[in-house]
Amino acid sequence: MALALAIETSCDDTAAAVVDAQLHVHSSVIESSIDQHRAFGGVVPELAGRAHLTTIGPVVRRALVEAGLDPHAPAIDVVAVTSGPGLIGSLLIGLSAAKAYALAWDLPFVGVNHLEGHLFAPLLERPDLQWPIVTLLVSGGHSMIVLQHGPGEHEVLGETIDDAAGEAYDKVARWLGLAYPGGPEIDRLAAGGTPGTLKLPVSMTGEDFDFSFSGLKTAVVRATEKHPEVALADVAASFQAAVSEQLLRKLRRTLVAYPDVRAVALAGGVAANSALRRGVERVAQEFAVAALLPSLSMCTDNAAMIAAAGWYRFAHGGPSDLALSARPSWALAEIS
Ligand code: KG4
Ligand code: ZN
Repeated sequence: MALALAIETSCDDTAAAVVDAQLHVHSSVIESSIDQHRAFGGVVPELAGRAHLTTIGPVVRRALVEAGLDPHAPAIDVVAVTSGPGLIGSLLIGLSAAKAYALAWDLPFVGVNHLEGHLFAPLLERPDLQWPIVTLLVSGGHSMIVLQHGPGEHEVLGETIDDAAGEAYDKVARWLGLAYPGGPEIDRLAAGGTPGTLKLPVSMTGEDFDFSFSGLKTAVVRATEKHPEVALADVAASFQAAVSEQLLRKLRRTLVAYPDVRAVALAGGVAANSALRRGVERVAQEFAVAALLPSLSMCTDNAAMIAAAGWYRFAHGGPSDLALSARPSWALAEIS
C-alpha cells in the first residue's frame, strides 16, 4: 500500500498526516498555536513561525507512530507539503522539514497549493462523489466559488472583492468584544438569537459570482451604534444570516448557470458554520444535488487534505524539485 506523509504549516496550525493512495486517512495530527495569538486578536506571523519550529518534529513523529510506522525509517512513498499560499515564515518551516525528510529517507516530495488542499477535503470522506462539483471555499484568508469538473480540474468562478468571509467574522467579533477567532464565537451566540433583528444589507446581489463582506462589517458597526439595545445574540444571528444569505445566493446562481453540477461542497474554516451548513443542505435539496459537508476537522486546516491533493499532483506532474520555494501568494487560478 502506497503511503504519503503530508505536512501543513501555512498559518497557525502545525499538521501532519499519513494518507494512502486510495485516500484512506491512517493518521492526522494537528497542533494549533491559536492560544498564543488570542491576546493579539489575530495570528501573529512571528509567533506562528516560532511555534511551527518547535512543534513540527513531534507532530510528524506522532502522525507516523499513529499510522503504525517506524518514525525513524517509515515505509512512506512520497512527502507532500503546502508550499503556498500562506505566511512566508510558516510555509518555509513546513517546506524545509518536508525537504529534509525527503532527503533523509530518499523519497520524492511534492509541493501542494493550500487552497487546492481544501478542495480535496470532501474526497477524503466521500470517495463516491459525482462530478462536476461546485465548492464554496470560505476561510479566514479566502472566499471563492469554484467549479470542479473532476479532481484537480478547477475553475474559479468568483471571489471576494475585499474581505474574506472568515475575516469578516473575526472583525465583527472583535467589534463585539468577542474572543479570536470570532467565527466559532458568533456561531455559538447566534444559536440563541433571532436573525433579522438587526436590519443588514445583503451585498453583491448582481449577476456575477463575486462576494463582498467589507460593507456588511461596516453595516454591523453602524447598526449596533444606532441600536445598542439589540441583544448580542440577535446581532450575531443577524450578521451570520446576512453572510450565509450572500454565499447561498451565489451558490444558487451557480447551480442555475451550470445545470450539470451534481454536488455542492463546503470547504475552509467557515465551512464549520452551522447556518451555512444548514443553508447548503437546503440549496442542495432544492436543486436535487448532493451536499458534501466535510466533518469539522476536515473543514479547518489539516494535512490529510494536503496529502489528497499531493497524491493527485504527484500522479499528474511528478515530484517537485528540491529547489522549490515557498509561494506566499500562490493563487488557485494559477494551477493548470
Ligand atoms: O481555513 P481556516 O482554518 O484557516 C484559513 O484561513 O486558512 O479558517 C479559519 C477561519 C477563521 O476566520 C474563523 O473565524 C473561521 O474560519 N471559522 C468560522 C467558524 N469556525 C471557524 N466562521 C464561522 N463559523 C464558524 N463556526
Ligand atoms: Zn485554510
